[in-house]
Amino acid sequence: MTHASSLVSGVRSVALNVPDLAQAEAFFTGTWHLSVAARTDNALYLRGTGADHHLLALHQAEGAAQIRCVTLRARSRAALDQVADRAQQHGGHVVQAVAPVTEPGGGTAVSIGDADGRVFQLVWGDEQHTDACEVPDRPVRLAHAVLNSHDVETTRRFLEQVLDFSLADRTRIMAFMRCNDDHHSLALGDTDNDALNHIAFLMPDLESVMRGGGRMKDAGYSIEWGPGRHGPGNNAFNYFIGPFEVVIEYTAEVEQVDDSYQAGQPSDWTWPPGRVDQWGISAPPSDRLKAAQRAVRFVA
Ligand SMILES: [Fe+2]
Repeated sequence: MTHASSLVSGVRSVALNVPDLAQAEAFFTGTWHLSVAARTDNALYLRGTGADHHLLALHQAEGAAQIRCVTLRARSRAALDQVADRAQQHGGHVVQAVAPVTEPGGGTAVSIGDADGRVFQLVWGDEQHTDACEVPDRPVRLAHAVLNSHDVETTRRFLEQVLDFSLADRTRIMAFMRCNDDHHSLALGDTDNDALNHIAFLMPDLESVMRGGGRMKDAGYSIEWGPGRHGPGNNAFNYFIGPFEVVIEYTAEVEQVDDSYQAGQPSDWTWPPGRVDQWGISAPPSDRLKAAQRAVRFVA
C-alpha cells in the first residue's frame, strides 16, 4: 500500500557541522543562491524562496563535515509523541525528548535516532516565511535527502514503522520513500556505510537546474553527474560536490504521485547498457562524486 504519511508532512531542512562558516556562507548565498534566514554565534541558517524557515542549518565544528540530523515537519503536535513512542518500539531511541526548539525557526520538536546513528528531528509549529514565492535560479525548498544504509531493508522498515513513510519505488541500489505528494522526500542508498549521500534542492524549473550547472561551473564546481533525468521520480538533476565534500543537487520537475501510485521493483527499473538516466547525455557519476557520497557521517 502506498500512502502519504499520517505523521510527517515533508522534509524541511538538514543540519550539518562544517569547519568554516564564512566559506559556507559565501558559497551557499553567492553561488548556490540560498539566503541567510538567521545566525547565531556558531551557526548559520539558510533559506530558499519558499516558506520553510531554513533548508540548511550549518554549525561551526572543526574537522570533516558531518550531518547532525534531517529535520522533517510533523502533521500534528500529537505526532511528536507518537514518533517518540514508535522509535522506542522499533529499534530506535529518543535523542531529545519533545521540547520547545531553542534554535532559530522555533517550534516544538522531538529527535529520534535509529540503530545505525541516523538522527531525525520532527518539528511542529516552526516559523514559516510569509513571503514565499518562486524565483528563477533560486532554490525553493528541499526536494529530498538521500541517506546511505548498509542495511536498506531495516532502515526502510524504521522509516515505515516510526515515521509512516511508504515505499515509492525500489531499484537495485535505492529505496525511494514518500510522505506526501512528492515521489520521494527521503531515499536510502545501498552501500556499506551509513553516511549522508546527498541533499537535493528543488529549483522552480528545468532552466534553473541547467543555468545552475553553468553558474557552479563558473565558480569552479564542475557537474559531477548530469544534466540528466532520473527514472524513479522523473526529476531532472545536476549533482555537485560543494564545500567540505557535501554532495548537493539541483533538481526540478519531481513527479507528483497520489495513493494510486504503484511501487516499482528493481525489475521495473532497469536501464539499457550504458545508460543510468533517461536522457543519456551525461557520463555516469564521477569517482569523486561516489567518494563524496560516502564521506559525510552522522555526528556520533
Ligand atoms: Fe537526488
